[in-house]
Order: sequence, then structure tokens, then C-alpha cells
Amino acid sequence: MQVPAARAEEARATMVELFPEGFEERDAGGLVELAAYTERASARELLSRLGRVAETPVAAGWEDAWRRFHRPVHVGPLWIGPSWEAPDDGAIAIVLDPGRAFGTGAHPTTRLCLELLLDLEPSGLVDVGCGSGVLALAAARLDFHPVVALDDDEAAVEVARANAAVNGVDVEVQCVDALAGPLPRVETAVANIARAPVERVAERFEGRLLVCSGYLTAERPAPAGWQALDRREAEGWAADLLERPAT
Ligand SMILES: C[S@@+](CC[C@H](N)C(=O)[O-])C[C@H]1O[C@@H](n2cnc3c(N)ncnc32)[C@H](O)[C@@H]1O
Repeated sequence: MQVPAARAEEARATMVELFPEGFEERDAGGLVELAAYTERASARELLSRLGRVAETPVAAGWEDAWRRFHRPVHVGPLWIGPSWEAPDDGAIAIVLDPGRAFGTGAHPTTRLCLELLLDLEPSGLVDVGCGSGVLALAAARLDFHPVVALDDDEAAVEVARANAAVNGVDVEVQCVDALAGPLPRVETAVANIARAPVERVAERFEGRLLVCSGYLTAERPAPAGWQALDRREAEGWAADLLERPAT
């Protein structure tokens, strides 16, 4: 789908809703192009919502096409990259082959969460909606302990477990619906899962700090009992650091 820059925010909001697992965005000569791999039904839904959608059949083997796009990401001292690239000297390296789970570290929401995590004192942490496990692995490498990673998608859980093993970090990965299942009692949560579920997680999480993202700059989670300490924005996306003040 290609839209004028003035309509990009509206289009991104629709894409987030229809493709929460992620989509690509690129500049297309004055227009913004948004693309997702999907089955035809979702393409038709997009067409009915936004009116201008191009469908391109993809060749067999598209599931592995991400390999061509998986480039190392640098956030502060962190280097996040695939096993076929060499980390920078002196970087805190996280090797990540994400398979089909969201989270190569390259998405703006993931990078913004990492920036906010880098500013925190290490504590116990739960990564809510861990996808590939990128945020949990980074937290573990930054001396957060214990680190628990949750996802309700079994495929993501398997990928996150494999990534934790490859990196030799102590991260417990659980298959849990974070809106219904138990959340660990730790100091800090990170949740890159969209604004509405972030607010529901905030209501259920008993810790003090919440790093959250998965929504656009026009949105701002405001769960009762929490106050905003920091906000980062990049490429139309936002991330917040919320604190629940001691009573
Ligand atoms: C946008 S991805 C974020 C992945 C990774 N944390 C990152 O920042 O790159 C959101 C992940 O949250 C998971 N998720 C969404 N709703 C969830 C829920 N209610 N409980 C557990 N996981 C959930 C999805 O399966 C997906 O893997």
C-alpha cells in the first residue's frame, strides 16, 4: 500500500491493527509504502479499509525471505545481529535468528524499548509479548535478573527459548496469555504489544516500572495508578516509561 505522507499515520494505525506481528515501511518517492506478508483475506480487509492496496504474490520460500533484510542493529552498547554477521568489538552482542517470530531488534518500537531499558538500574524483569525474545535477552545481558519472557504464541516461545540457549543467557520463557495468566512478581516489565493490552497488563502487573510500546505517537497509555516518567519517539512510533509510585 502506498499513501501520501499526510495519511501515513492513519495507514500505520490500520496496519498495526491488522498485522500486529509487524510490517515493513519504506520511502517510495514522496509516498510512504507499507507492506505485509499475509493471506488474501487480510489484503481484502485492508482494501476495504483504505481503498488503495496492491497485492503481489510471493514466491515459495517467502518465510525465509527475512534473512536478506536481517541486518545488525546498534542501540547504545548493544549489538543485535544474525549469526552470519560478526559483532562489533567491545559491543554487548546478542545473536538473534528470529525465524517467524517478531523481533529482530530493527523495529522502531523494539529499539525504543531498548533505549529505555538501558537507562534503568538492573532488577527482576518480565518481557510481556517476547516474540523472538530480543528484549528479554538484552535485559539479561544488561544484568537484569531474574528475567522471564512470556508470549501466547507457541512458535514465538520456541524461537525465544532457542535464542536464549544460543546466547547462553538465563531467561525463563513461558507460553502465557499475559491478559489472563499469572505475571511474575518482579520490579520491571517491558511490553511491546500495542496500547490497549499495555493498559490491561499495567492493571495486572504488581511491579514498579513498565517500559511499553507497540503504538503510534498519537497514542499514550494512561493506566490508573501509573505516572509517565519518560517517552521516546521514532519514525511515528512511541515508547513510554511508566512508574507506579509507592503508596
Ligand atoms: C510486537 S511483538 C514484540 C516482540 C518483541 N518483544 C519486540 O519488542 O521486538 C508482540 C508480541 O506479543 C505477543 N502477544 C500479543 N498479545 C499477547 C498476550 N496477550 N499475551 C502474551 N503475548 C502476547 C505476540 O505474540 C508477539 O510475539
